[in-house]
Amino acid sequence: MLKLGVLASGRGSNFQSIIDEIDAGNLKASIRLLITDNAGAYAIERAQKHSIEYLCLSPGDFSSKDAFYSRIADEMAKRDVELVVLAGFMRIVRKPLIEAYPHRIMNIHPALLPAFPGLHSQKQALDYGVRISGCTVHFVDEGMDTGPIIIQAAVPVSPVDTEDSLSERILRLEHKIYPHAIRLYSEGRLSVEGQTVKIINYNMSDDFIINPPLNG
Ligand code: GRF
Repeated sequence: MLKLGVLASGRGSNFQSIIDEIDAGNLKASIRLLITDNAGAYAIERAQKHSIEYLCLSPGDFSSKDAFYSRIADEMAKRDVELVVLAGFMRIVRKPLIEAYPHRIMNIHPALLPAFPGLHSQKQALDYGVRISGCTVHFVDEGMDTGPIIIQAAVPVSPVDTEDSLSERILRLEHKIYPHAIRLYSEGRLSVEGQTVKIINYNMSDDFIINPPLNG
């Protein structure tokens, strides 16, 4: 069973979707630890409710950013975590964690990368006037949302969309593709080749390149 560690800064709805898929028996994994950088994160309540161990670590309490990430890597390793999952973690991960978990850190981003990396990507997409947006699960490297892409899902953008309505439509898909990407990893079906990820024994159901109707 795959041992997961989660990093989250806020609401934690993606964290919840992973918990739910594990509980439903659709993802053979266990969450060994949640680490948050925000003592007010709602993700903490979710961890408490599901008896998941959590730690709150503040970067300000460390001598440097690298020291903060070394500590995260140590805490994960102590619990035999095999895959680190970023679920709304609002910081750029630095070398000590990336080197401890090479191609073993995933992130979800609410846009079709490489378009609209960074913050407020749904607003960036609206301001740019794209007709299709979506979400991306990728492995984490030292850049901002630049690591190898694992899976993506697309949604249409309506002329009357607001940042909130588009975010919500994308979020519903995030909750589907993130657990699926973790499942592919847990089955040993992801192979990183340079900037690309190959899905081993690929079949169409591994992809979420779908456009749910705007009212769907
Ligand atoms: C999601 O939109 C995710 O794509 C982005 O941050 C948001 C986190 O939401 N990285 P939640 O905390 O998982 O509800």
